[in-house]
Amino acid sequence: MVQILLNYQVITGEEQITLSAYALRQRKRSKVDKHRRKICNQLTRSVSPNTHVLVIDDDGGTRETLSDVLRLRGYAIETAGLGQEGLKKLSTRPFDAAIVDIKLPDISGADLLRLIKEASPEIEVILITAFASLNSAIQDINGDAFAYITRPFEMNHLLVTLDKALEKRHLSMESRRLSQTAQQDLAERRRIEEQLKQANAELARRKRLFQTALSDLGKSHEQLKAAQLQLIQAEKLESVGRLAAGVAHEVKNPLAIILQGINYLSKHLATDNGNIALALQDMDKAVKRADSIVRGLLDFSAPSELRLNTEELNSVMEQSLLLVRHEMDKYHVNEVRELSEHLLPVRLDRIKIEQVFVNIFLNAIQAMPEGGTLAVKTYTKQLTVAGHNLGSRKADHFRIGETVVMAEVEDTGTGIPGDQLSEVFDPFFTTKSTGKGTGLGLTVTKKIIDLHGGLINIGNRKEGGVRVTIMFKA
Ligand SMILES: Nc1ncnc2c1ncn2[C@@H]1O[C@H](COP(=O)(O)OP(=O)(O)O)[C@@H](O)[C@H]1O
Ligand SMILES: [Mg+2]
Repeated sequence: MVQILLNYQVITGEEQITLSAYALRQRKRSKVDKHRRKICNQLTRSVSPNTHVLVIDDDGGTRETLSDVLRLRGYAIETAGLGQEGLKKLSTRPFDAAIVDIKLPDISGADLLRLIKEASPEIEVILITAFASLNSAIQDINGDAFAYITRPFEMNHLLVTLDKALEKRHLSMESRRLSQTAQQDLAERRRIEEQLKQANAELARRKRLFQTALSDLGKSHEQLKAAQLQLIQAEKLESVGRLAAGVAHEVKNPLAIILQGINYLSKHLATDNGNIALALQDMDKAVKRADSIVRGLLDFSAPSELRLNTEELNSVMEQSLLLVRHEMDKYHVNEVRELSEHLLPVRLDRIKIEQVFVNIFLNAIQAMPEGGTLAVKTYTKQLTVAGHNLGSRKADHFRIGETVVMAEVEDTGTGIPGDQLSEVFDPFFTTKSTGKGTGLGLTVTKKIIDLHGGLINIGNRKEGGVRVTIMFKA
């Protein structure tokens, strides 16, 4: 029977030898009984040589035996006979575990344990205590020691306790490592999330910028298109105007001579032949029509000079209505007037604006050959948007908040087909049969309104017929 006793010597029955020597011998021996081999294996179970254990015990024998056994198991062992010596060793390198005698001459067990833990918080400490000091040892365990072992103890018990202590240390280090990794992962995740958030915000900002740029671009494009259209229109009018002026001058005098000739012949060509009289009448009509076209052309190409006076728009409107009274009666056109009494005066060329209204009234009447209603309206208003003819650079003359004087002419006539709306101001655009329309009325009208710095708009009414709106600066 092999016994490991307090003095850490193995008594085999035949001799007393130190445990390490015994174990070595046992390993070498080829024939040992099973029980011996088992103990021997337990004692020599190999462990990592990197596991460092510190033994602090003032008893030299204990120190020696313990280091022999533990070295045999593969631990790296350091020993110290005094508490201070042990602490010194602790400060030179890290230890995984310490086996500490609680009763040392130079320092109390509790103090030593505290200092060891302070110096090396990770270390697991197994206390060795005499039975008498058990109570204080337990108090210490409640503090920081892993376990205590009372003397006399079996080496096996110590080894198992040490294994557990080392396992606990290993586990707690592993769990700390894992939690550190997890924390790092978490921090990394947070960092990536933050980066993602920033990237998203940046993306959203760029999207907004892009959209603003896009809508600005769209607006500029629209403005450019409108400006281009106006340029083309202006160019067209300019060349037509010059052409018209030349033709009109050339044609006006010959027409006057022909008219005089017709008059002369009508008076002096005494003939019973009715056909000759009819032919002369036809010629007279034709020449007068040609003359009206020529006058239209001259109006259109007349030098851009206005005789501006401060006028009441209502009275200009009423005067123009008088001029077309005959035509209205002829075609059974009713009249509705809604002229504001508090209209602000307007700077305008009275004759030219009368011409404008007459053109517009005649168009309306001609669009109602079966009769209808011509409604005229004047009013003052404050602009909420810059002009209603948006997209036109002319609308830029008008500012939001500005007061303007409006004239509206509505009819209950045929209306204008949608695709022709953009053409009605073009020179010579007419849908009327030859002799009835010259296609210059609205061209001249627009030119006059432009010269006044006003705006003209023509469109179809929901109820049918056309509405012409003219805006003047008050
Ligand atoms: N009130 C209206 N109702 C229907 N069509 C109109 C109206 N005013 C103008 N138009 C159309 O615009 C064209 C051009 O008008 P305008 O320049 O005055 O020339 P004209 O009257 O000699 O035809 C007209 O031929 C007609 O087709
Ligand atoms: Mg006309």
